Amino acid sequence: MIVGFIVGFFLAVLFIHSSMPERDDFVPYYRYGQHVGTHDHVNENTSIAEKLYSEVRILCWIMTSPANHQKKARHVKRTWGKRCNKLIFMSSAKDEELDAVALPISEGDDNLWGKTEEAFKYVSDHRMNYANWFLTAQNDTYMIVKNLR
Ligand SMILES: *[C@@H]1O[C@H](CO)[C@@H](O)[C@H](O)[C@H]1NC(C)=O
Ligand SMILES: *[C@@H]1O[C@H](CO)[C@@H](O)[C@H](O)[C@H]1NC(C)=O
Repeated sequence: MIVGFIVGFFLAVLFIHSSMPERDDFVPYYRYGQHVGTHDHVNENTSIAEKLYSEVRILCWIMTSPANHQKKARHVKRTWGKRCNKLIFMSSAKDEELDAVALPISEGDDNLWGKTEEAFKYVSDHRMNYANWFLTAQNDTYMIVKNLR
């Protein structure tokens, strides 16, 4: 019984250790066409999603602001944003992690339209060839891009 107890204890430790990755090790579980993480959905049939990914090209542009880069926008980048063919963060300050565009406008409710206008200009000046469809969302939006396609 004692041997069983000890073996069970070590198995439990091993199990807990192997099933909880370090925070830094966390990687997005899936990217169309390539598995990039340990969390593979082995039984998921992604053939339709992969086909649509290359046929229906969506550029997503996310409105955000410096105060929300860490709080909101990075989570878009780490989750559903990956499933867009192209993801752009529109802000008023640059951000290395997000690769955010610093639009030439200050933040504030009075500037909401001005900021949207600048974002439109940026996309039409730089990125029109990227996609068939253009989607704009807020930094606190969650989209199921697969279903949208
Ligand atoms: C995945 O789905 C597609 C389309 O429905 C089907 O043709 C294909 O056989 C499926 N693949 C597997 C492995 O089930
Ligand atoms: C970002 O998220 C915050 C908090 O949910 C929201 O108030 C804000 O309108 C969003 N958009 C921008 C551009 O900051």
